[in-house]
Amino acid sequence: MVVLEATQAAIAAAGRALRSGALVAFPTETVYGLGADATDGRAVAAIFAAKGRPRFNPLIVHVGEVAQAEQLGSLTDSARQLAAAFWPGPLTLVVAKERHSPIADLASAGLATVALRVPAHPIARALLRASDRPVAAPSANRSGHVSATTAAHVAADLGASVPIILDGGPTPIGLESTVVDATGPEACILRLGGLARESLERALGRPLAFALGAPGRPASPGMLTRHYAPATRLRLEANEVRAGEALLAFGPAVPKHAAAAINLSPSGDLVEAAAKLFSALRELDATGAQAIAVMPIPHLGLGEAINDRLQRAVRSP
Ligand code: TXA
Ligand code: MG
Repeated sequence: MVVLEATQAAIAAAGRALRSGALVAFPTETVYGLGADATDGRAVAAIFAAKGRPRFNPLIVHVGEVAQAEQLGSLTDSARQLAAAFWPGPLTLVVAKERHSPIADLASAGLATVALRVPAHPIARALLRASDRPVAAPSANRSGHVSATTAAHVAADLGASVPIILDGGPTPIGLESTVVDATGPEACILRLGGLARESLERALGRPLAFALGAPGRPASPGMLTRHYAPATRLRLEANEVRAGEALLAFGPAVPKHAAAAINLSPSGDLVEAAAKLFSALRELDATGAQAIAVMPIPHLGLGEAINDRLQRAVRSP
């Protein structure tokens, strides 16, 4: 791990690192982000591994320009209004993902929506230009810890799991971005943050509700996030395939005779498996199999988040 003063040369090196699939922590005007190329599923999986997140929450995808956001998501009228008023800035807009979006499924946790933000911090913007990629980045802290607002916090919290930390001093806002769900005609607040509700309401010319819960007491963001679940029934911990079943395999020893099979990682690599999880579920879901037999996934490292997601998919109707 190196902490680099964010000079032009350091930003250029960090941009190359991102393009090669490595993680880079960088300052934004809100908090430090732990970034990865959002189009690279394995790089995105490494974010979850580094944070020790027990779940695959959807991540914010950062872009340098509003025009790029338009290519990744379909902006509703209210999204456009808010983007015009507050981007670049501490606002994240959840919008419908564009069809054929290059964003890795894992970055948006398999959802049909994507959270987009154009940050204002000059170092974040320079890094986005240098990498020439959309950058998925949650706050650069270990899961359950508070968001990091200095490079030293990032280093203390994530240390060895981040090859490059760009140091741009303390972040000016120090609170995460405000997240607005702008997928429908009635935009609503998913998370309060660095942009005040009053400012949003002034720009829209009308009051904004919270997505759930009483005003001022939004339910936790995790609860607000709808989760992707396949329509096909999942059968977990499967060591054999039954008639009519598709197989979601893991590891080198795979049962034969599945109607369709996808191996999340023949070598048993949990980072590779996480990167493939959502697209594999989608693909198997589309095969028309009666059920999807899922081989046991070790409950270690990213295996915990993979199992969490599989268990939710079993429970949902
Ligand atoms: O200021 C910030 O927002 C920082 C900097 C680095 O940009 N990032 C950040 O990311 O705080 P994170 O991952 O800690 O929080 C992202 C929030 C979560 O509450 C997540 O549930 C929500 O955004 N979110 C992301 N994608 C979503 C989606 N498709 N639908 C609903 N909520 C989403
Ligand atoms: Mg966070």
